[in-house]
This record gives sequence, C-alpha cells and structure tokens, in this order.
Amino acid sequence: MKTALIHDNYGINEQGHFTVCGYDTVELAKEYGTPLYLLDEDKVRAMSRLYTFNAKKYYRKARILFASKALSFKGIYKIADEEGLCCDTVSSGEIFTALSAGFPPEKIYFHGNNKTPEDIDYAARSNIGCFIADNLTELDIIDETAARYGKKANVVIRITPGIDPHTNVKVVTGSVDSKFGNAIETGQALEIVEYALKKKNINLKGYHCHVGSQIFDPQPFFDAADIMFEFIADAKARTGYEAEVLNLGGGFGVRYIPEQKNLDVEFMLSEIAGRVRENCEKYGIAEPEINFEPGRSIVAAAGVTLYTVGNVKTITGYKSYISIDGGMADNPRYALYQAPHYPIVANKADTDMDFVADIAGRCCESGDLIEEQVNVQKAEPGDILAVCVTGAYNYSMASNYNRLPRPALVMLSKSGKRIGIKRETLEDLIRNDI
Ligand code: LLP
Repeated sequence: MKTALIHDNYGINEQGHFTVCGYDTVELAKEYGTPLYLLDEDKVRAMSRLYTFNAKKYYRKARILFASKALSFKGIYKIADEEGLCCDTVSSGEIFTALSAGFPPEKIYFHGNNKTPEDIDYAARSNIGCFIADNLTELDIIDETAARYGKKANVVIRITPGIDPHTNVKVVTGSVDSKFGNAIETGQALEIVEYALKKKNINLKGYHCHVGSQIFDPQPFFDAADIMFEFIADAKARTGYEAEVLNLGGGFGVRYIPEQKNLDVEFMLSEIAGRVRENCEKYGIAEPEINFEPGRSIVAAAGVTLYTVGNVKTITGYKSYISIDGGMADNPRYALYQAPHYPIVANKADTDMDFVADIAGRCCESGDLIEEQVNVQKAEPGDILAVCVTGAYNYSMASNYNRLPRPALVMLSKSGKRIGIKRETLEDLIRNDI
C-alpha cells in the first residue's frame, strides 16, 4: 500500500520524506524537536477564503465565524482577522486570546451553555459583538450586565432543532435532549424568544442552531434550515418579531483518512443558500443574514503532528505497537472518540505501508493510542512519525497529563516559517504550584 497524500498541501520529496507546505518534515523535526505541531498557514488562509468567497458568491448577507475552539492561540486570530472572518468563542480565555492578538471585539461571538457571570461581565466590558444565549438564566445575567454598563447587548438565541446527523454521539449537539439550547418541540424555544423580547437591555438579533460534526452532505443543513424557518415564521406570527440573523452553525466535514472524501465547500454553501432562499419565499420572510461557524474544516488539514518513534514492540502471535514521544496528552481524539487517524513514517514516506500496528502514546494508560491496527511503513526507533490532519481539536484539547509539556507549534508558509507557540518547559509545568 502506497502513502496517500490526502490533502493538497501534503507531498513527498526527492529524499522520500513527507512534506507539508513544501517543507521536509524530517528536517523540521530535527530543527524544532518532537513532538511538534505543524500548521500550514497558507492552507488555513486558502480554506478561510474558500468559505468567505463562496458564502458571498451564493448569498449576499453571509458571514463566516471561525469556531476557535478548534484551534485557539494568538496567531490564528491574526489570520482570521486578515482573512475577514469573525470568531466564535466559548470562554473568557478564548476572548482574551483573541483580544490579545488585536482581534476586533465587535467581530467576536460568545457561545457556551453555561457562561459564568464573570465571563459575561468580561465579554460585555470588552464590547464583544454578540452573545449566543443558551438559556433563561443567562439572558437575565446578560440583561443585568448590559444595564450595568449602560449598553444594549446583541443576542442570538440558541435553538435546538431536534436533528441528529448520525455522527459520533459525543459530538451531536442539535437533538432535543441536548444540553445545548432551547427545544422547539417542547415549546421552550418560543418561551425564551418571548422572554428575550421583554428585556430592555437585549437587542434580539435572531437564532442559532448547530447540528453536529463531520457533515459532508447538505441534507442535515437543509433539515436545519427548514425547521428554523418554520420556527422563524411561527415566532413571527405569535410575537411579531422577525429574525434578522440565522446562524446555521458549523460541523462541515474533514478528510482524516484516505477512505473519506474531501468536503466540497462551494457545493455545500451554494446548496444551503438555495434552500434558505426557498424557505424565505415559502414563508414570506425577508432574507436574514446567514452565519456559518466552521472550525475543524478551516484548520484540520493544515495541521500535522510530528513524533519520534521510540520502541517498536511486537507481541509474538498478537500485535505490534509503535511507541511515540507524544500521544493522548497532545491528541486525545482517539482516546475520546476513536477518531480515525492517518500516520506516515515521514522519513520512509516513499516506501510501502505494509506493517500493521497500534500507534501508542507515552502516557501511563493503555487507552493512550492514536490509532489501532493501522497500515503504516515499517518503523524503527528514531524514525519520525507524522500524524496527518491534526490542526483541529489537538492543541486546543491538549493537556499536561503525566506532566508532559505541551509541544511547540510551527507555522509554515511559502514565504517562511516561524514558531507560533513555544514548547512548554519543565518550569512552565510548576509555574502555578505553591
Ligand atoms: N459551532 C458550534 C456551536 C459548535 O458547538 C461547534 C463544535 C462548532 C461550531 C464547530 O464545529 P466544527 O466545524 O469544528 O465541526 N472535540 C471534538 C469536536 C467538538 C465540537 C464541538 N462543537 C472533536 O475533536 O472532534
């Protein structure tokens, strides 16, 4: 089995080494050490433009919010700003990181199912653009906080449309019994709209829904649009209020392994825009501003993680393990969701993937795996193992489990490379210990 280059920014050079953005990953591992996150800045920009260009092409009033839970550090907010993206944030920490990078506060949207009063105060004080409110308690706090600052807060209400797009159950967010939002089915969605309309310091902008993750097909978005427009019409009939904004969330799919397809962003956006317009006509509603919140699909393929292979263990009659100098602490996605990964021995990328092994991390826990029974090149101690498509939910979900310092992140571009996040040191690990 030959190495598949599953994204257009991946390659194999004359030395037979795996490349990202034209850079030899074996050389990068030597220069910066491992484990190491790579982020192809050109790829992030290309994906951002694919969204902004096609959103505007097919729908005049469209806005793209980068879901920064997928990857949050100062450098990414700078790129997002330069590429004309707004940002979806879910904590004071993400807001602080964005603001520290000079990201314009009015382009920040604040999500979360349980924002604390301190979060809401910080967001209001920072003049963020919009709250995406989850529940009645939160609306009270937003209203009181805005009053304290003599402002009116822009609010979009999170609605639960009751859709399950059949992806991993742990990342489904749009079904009725979800912890997020307000269900239409139970009448609670209408109740919170009526509640918000009575609040003096809340400027109700519209509604939000998010269906799930790893969606490659427009159908779940069609379903969401149909349900949300029926709701917009119903809420209008009952209250007279017509939404100006409809946020259809994120969840656009990413190719992690060769067996998966690549997302066709233009097709998705043009199809969804068409369905939105049909619904506007059907219900006699003015075209609202449409927001999308892609996270993973903007940054995932831009990321590759490099590790050094330590021990390669074959348990006779059973299986083999390739042990690496990272694992669930820098990438918990397999341990959490059995998310599929595509590993390549970077210094042997031009040789066949005819060895079958589990890729084992270094944490003291048997569940610390990156993949099981995966085809890969025959690895030896000292080889560099590249795990592809790790730009999303890797660094942002990394921990110091087993007191492992978080890896550095190097940003790559045709115009040069630079460190975006420094490697944590042992001193960093005890910084807050008293
Ligand atoms: N908007 C909302 C309201 C969301 O909850 C999410 C993701 C997104 C946008 C962005 O979704 P994306 O386009 O990135 O799929 N840690 C998990 C994913 C959790 C996603 C949670 N919400 C993983 O590693 O797969």
